[in-house]
Amino acid sequence: MKKLKLGFLVSGRGSNMHAIIDACLDGTLNAEPVLVISNNMDSGALEIARSMNIPAYHYSARTHPDPVQLDQAMTEILMTHKIDVVILAGFMKKIGPVMLNAFRGRILNIHPSLLPKYGGQGMYGMKVHEAVIDSGDKVTGVTVHLVDDNYDQGTILAQRVVEISENDTSETLAERVLGIEHTLFVEVLKDIIKGKIKLSGIATST
Ligand code: GRF
Repeated sequence: MKKLKLGFLVSGRGSNMHAIIDACLDGTLNAEPVLVISNNMDSGALEIARSMNIPAYHYSARTHPDPVQLDQAMTEILMTHKIDVVILAGFMKKIGPVMLNAFRGRILNIHPSLLPKYGGQGMYGMKVHEAVIDSGDKVTGVTVHLVDDNYDQGTILAQRVVEISENDTSETLAERVLGIEHTLFVEVLKDIIKGKIKLSGIATST
């Protein structure tokens, strides 16, 4: 069975990307981390990728001032490398129409809440956990979903619930949720490889 080729889009520290790459390298996932693209040339994720000898590129308005050309260039490099699944692991930019059309149904995102709660434009990072704590909710969680034209609204592939205790702050919650993110993203990829989760255009082992 051929390895699933993964392309990562990242903006920040890259801990989700790191967890997935580790799972590829230790054989947990029959997948290959092929390349990493970041819109942020100073992102920790690019540093991690380079330290692991994974080709890592900076693509942004600085390298491609025209948004259409940027969208085309990013799509082209993913296609040149025959990427099967595009993984948004903390990617802060909207996916352009060229990439969406080329990889529709094969772009995954992770979000640190139980979508549709606490999703949408402007809901990212600590803002999510602060809103959850302010709400008084008793549970939050993690969602992995397909990416479509709207922020955080694509088909949900998997969710995990995280209990909130009275002593939780947005920081303690963020830390606990992040730990669950790392395992859930790997589990979803495992299920895609096994064929338990079906993505359009992805042949599986079943
Ligand atoms: C994660 O909380 C993820 O859910 C969100 O962005 C954050 C990225 O964290 N989309 P990291 O860069 O993977 O550490």
